[in-house]
Amino acid sequence: MHVSIVGSGYVGTTVAAALADAGHRVTAIDVDPDVVEQLNAGESPIEEPGLEELVARYGGDELLGTTTFNRAADTALTLVAVPTPTGPEGAIDASYVASAVESLDRVVGDDHVIAVKSTVVPAALAAEIAPLVSGATLATNPEFLREGSALDDFQHPHKIVIGTDDADGRVSGLFEELYRPIVANTDPEPAVVHTGRDEAMLIKYANNAFLAAKISLINDIGNIAKLHGVDAYEVADAIGTDPRISDRFLRSGVGYGGSCFPKDVNALINTARDNGYEPTMLTAATALNDRQPDRLLELFDKHVDPAGERVAVLGLAFKPGTDDTRNSRAIPVIEGLQAREASVVGYDPVAQLDGHDLDIDHANSARAALAGASGAVVVTGWDEFAALDAAFNAMAEPVVVDGRRIIERREGITYEGLTW
Ligand code: UGA
Repeated sequence: MHVSIVGSGYVGTTVAAALADAGHRVTAIDVDPDVVEQLNAGESPIEEPGLEELVARYGGDELLGTTTFNRAADTALTLVAVPTPTGPEGAIDASYVASAVESLDRVVGDDHVIAVKSTVVPAALAAEIAPLVSGATLATNPEFLREGSALDDFQHPHKIVIGTDDADGRVSGLFEELYRPIVANTDPEPAVVHTGRDEAMLIKYANNAFLAAKISLINDIGNIAKLHGVDAYEVADAIGTDPRISDRFLRSGVGYGGSCFPKDVNALINTARDNGYEPTMLTAATALNDRQPDRLLELFDKHVDPAGERVAVLGLAFKPGTDDTRNSRAIPVIEGLQAREASVVGYDPVAQLDGHDLDIDHANSARAALAGASGAVVVTGWDEFAALDAAFNAMAEPVVVDGRRIIERREGITYEGLTW
């Protein structure tokens, strides 16, 4: 099949490369000429495990980059994978999607299918996107990729969600053809969900909201466990054996970050309120997530008065395996330390907190961050932190408050776990 994809970010590039690898011809449209040039030279514009190799293999050939929307007219289906950032007051900003769809609508024929992969609330889809489509058919096809394992998630999905309001099955047929090689290569076979356009988008929101709420619920239980001197991880291990609960996403600590959970939960809250409904569970999940960094700092305060002291923050990325710091829990933790007049030194194996308005020193190793510090807080669960041992001796009186249950050394230091 010959398909086009608008947007060469982490979703777009991953999907484009994986579809080329699945035997399709892919036209990747991006407004940034540098990104297009990179793709055609076989260089991946983003870092994801396995992606570099596929872009090197198909870039400039089966995966052809262009800045020209006209090229979409040669294909049957265009996937739109551009950012939907948070706009004013928590609503999503669908303007990039709108602009892509508008440009596509001008050039494609009536039998073309424009499928939105970006996450857009149904109300914005109806009000801001659908009116821009004059002849082609508008569909939705959300993604469930995680940063750091995006390619593998796309190549071996647990579900594929196809949203169309087209009654004659033509759009579903195109998607069946698109995903056939992926389905055939995945064991166990993924669920292929054919549903309406809005339903597909709500599935995406519900998926992320459920996982975010699950983390907040285990954090609530974790906070209670800590008050009783109980280890929340022992509790989680046991309840995780119940298949109705499952053992995934039960790691309590300093909470969730990233470019998806906070944004999507907020967008869902926002669209609910617009319709006169107060989503109690979702607002609680968000409030609890916002509070976890404070709890970490309150534990720290029990051992060290941070005013005027040097404090090490271990981990800046929103999760291990990425350099992405968007909505990282490190940000409120650092803000809290600075409000307490501490001087903060941060260390992360790959991430830097540039671009955020936070004045911190970046150390180039954990030991360097710990040297001369009066205490350390752990915000990201990087594996290398598990192995830290003698490095803690670089602090005069080692105090470590762990927000991710990653530190293994307990002897000879003052160690506090956030929920254990
Ligand atoms: C998330 C979803 O997992 C993907 O399915 C979805 O496609 C993606 O958002 C998206 O909407 O694009 P991602 O943000 O890459 O993926 O990261 P996750 O691995 O889900 O982690 C999110 C946050 O939750 C991290 O800060 C992580 O530290 C935290 N987390 C995760 C916990 O605090 N506890 C857990 O048990 C699991």
